[in-house]
Amino acid sequence: MVVQHAPTSQTTPASLPPSVFTLPQTAQLEALYTIIRDKNTSRGDFLFYSDRIIRLLVEEGLNHLPVLPKTVETPTGATYEGVGFEGQICGVSILRAGEAMEAGLREVCRSVRIGKILIQRDEETAQPKLFYSKLPQDIAQRYVLLLDPMLATGGSAMKAVEVIMEHGVPEERIIFINLISSPEGLRNFCAKYPTLRVITGWIDKGLNEKQYIIPGLGDFGERRYCS
Ligand code: URA
Repeated sequence: MVVQHAPTSQTTPASLPPSVFTLPQTAQLEALYTIIRDKNTSRGDFLFYSDRIIRLLVEEGLNHLPVLPKTVETPTGATYEGVGFEGQICGVSILRAGEAMEAGLREVCRSVRIGKILIQRDEETAQPKLFYSKLPQDIAQRYVLLLDPMLATGGSAMKAVEVIMEHGVPEERIIFINLISSPEGLRNFCAKYPTLRVITGWIDKGLNEKQYIIPGLGDFGERRYCS
């Protein structure tokens, strides 16, 4: 029997899909977001504080995995009726910004396998196009934590899910983790994949004409790797 624990994350307002979960919107979390959103934040601080949020998101993603009853004996000789993890996981990062989330996943899941997907806009069709993918060979047997920090239009994430599902992973075994989402991106994404859980740190107001999230934090990859 699989015991499904209630997630600790809060579900989002009624206007958003039920498969979307946000981190608890505490003052502490808001302070972290205020630092990484600030255009004057140094690259060092951006790395440090975005890593803190990533760690929280990964831990939350793991809360959505099933567990099985498990009894152990403690050093006192007593038995403890707990639970153990069920099934195996892997990560898949959407290049390049998603790579920034890999270390956070490795910190909590020792020697986890991580695949990579590169998707870019096709200049002719303006649609997201797959350029490269390297996924764990046994991915079909695993739960997949899909990593991409910013859910803007949802185009890249939807393409990435398509690729992962083509490799045999059912939609409900994929958990998409991101730091900031736009409401329109969430709606697009969840309309296409209604049983795939999305764990997001914060839901922002919307997108600007360049498809950047507003207020957002700018280009995550640029701020993480370049500025
Ligand atoms: N990617 C980013 O890095 N930032 C956005 O606002 C949207 C997509």
